[in-house]
Amino acid sequence: MATRSGFSSKIGFILAAAGSAVGLGNIWKFPFEVGEGGGAAFLIMYLIFCFILCFPVMLTEIAIGRKTQLNPVGAFKSLGFKNWAIVGFLGILSGVFILSFYNVVAGWALGYFIEMVQGNFSIGEQFGIFTNNAVLISIWSALFMFATAFIVSKGISGGIERASKILMPVLVILILSLVAYSFTLENAMKGVSFYLIPDFSEITLEVALNALGQAFFSLSLGMGALITYGSYVGKKDNIVSSAAFITMTDVGIAFIAGLMMFPFVAYITGGTMEGVDGGPGLIFVTLPGVFESFGPTLGIIVGSVFFLLLSFAALTSTVSLLEVPVSFFVDELKIKRNKAVWIIAAFIFLLGIPSMLSQGSVPALNKFITYPSGTTIDFMTFIENMSSNTFLPLGGLLITLFAAYVWKKENLMAEIEEGFPGKFRGSFLSKYISFCVCYLCPIVLSVIFLLTISDVYF
Ligand code: PFF
Repeated sequence: MATRSGFSSKIGFILAAAGSAVGLGNIWKFPFEVGEGGGAAFLIMYLIFCFILCFPVMLTEIAIGRKTQLNPVGAFKSLGFKNWAIVGFLGILSGVFILSFYNVVAGWALGYFIEMVQGNFSIGEQFGIFTNNAVLISIWSALFMFATAFIVSKGISGGIERASKILMPVLVILILSLVAYSFTLENAMKGVSFYLIPDFSEITLEVALNALGQAFFSLSLGMGALITYGSYVGKKDNIVSSAAFITMTDVGIAFIAGLMMFPFVAYITGGTMEGVDGGPGLIFVTLPGVFESFGPTLGIIVGSVFFLLLSFAALTSTVSLLEVPVSFFVDELKIKRNKAVWIIAAFIFLLGIPSMLSQGSVPALNKFITYPSGTTIDFMTFIENMSSNTFLPLGGLLITLFAAYVWKKENLMAEIEEGFPGKFRGSFLSKYISFCVCYLCPIVLSVIFLLTISDVYF
């Protein structure tokens, strides 16, 4: 099969895939999940899930993509298993839903960046008013979607790879500067010890499920984003080292985001770590007050850098989320990239409007649904639960089952071996990956999927 034009270099692919992985999940979600999950106890489980369970799933997705050089739906079909294309459809659907609400939160980040540049630190206390301002949020979200669509419309090497090569290094520099600064704050070490000293009594089933859901979301797994990116990778590239590098970058940045965030929290709480909104508002409600306390000039600099960082991280992820349906339209429906990009982007933007309005302004969307368990949630949380907590682990499960038992493990191993220096088959690594894909991942993911369904919904 001829290699389609894709990433121009291995490092380009790695940066783009790492860009997909590193996003709001790392900087916005990860610290508050850690906070709610008992600090280091959550962190340890998260690390284990990423390396033991998620790394083989990532490798499998990339291998399927590179083998078939197609989008998630086309990939299953071209391997000769038409019925399995439904897994690809599920992935595309997950991508569309995730992007619809992700783009709203990315719009908040962009809006906050502008507020910080203007020195408006009171925005933290007005978070509710801010998110309820539908007109303003629509503008920020539309701008964000526009930037995403613009990059994707320029194609793989000219758009996605180029943007990632600039944005990723900038992001690393920004986050490291913020960590260095946060360490100079009073009580910083109290925050660090909350983050790094585990309290194992906090580990519950729910915390474990959250850690796995977070690992899947953060590594962009289970929806074919890496099948899609893998389809643009050349046969000579070593995908084992690429997957390892992507996993390490993602985990590393989430870890560093925690190192930045907890000293901030310790500083504002005088070391008690209490009384802070630990939920989704951690960044948006708490941090502007922290930045204000640095004084006007420094506060504006640190605050603007922070929200710029968050916006950049989100952008390399929204790009990958949009590329999934776009590649489907281009490959399967033979629609020109440019046209496909703008139509899909507009559609997803519109799909995000109920999420945008669900943060208080429209009561019916704010109390959208009550699960049998009695929990009432807003529309955005409903879409998030459905796509990231339900579809992603299910997608991961189906992808590993497919690779191991339908496509067959020998074919998977042969594809992984392409570009691997030396002999892959027979090595410890290949045995480990095959054990994970054939047994460990299907079993653990089935159990976790069922537990998640009963925990989230019932
Ligand atoms: N990994 C991204 C994050 O952590 O923010 C979110 C994401 C991007 C999920 C792409 C899934 C995906 F396909």
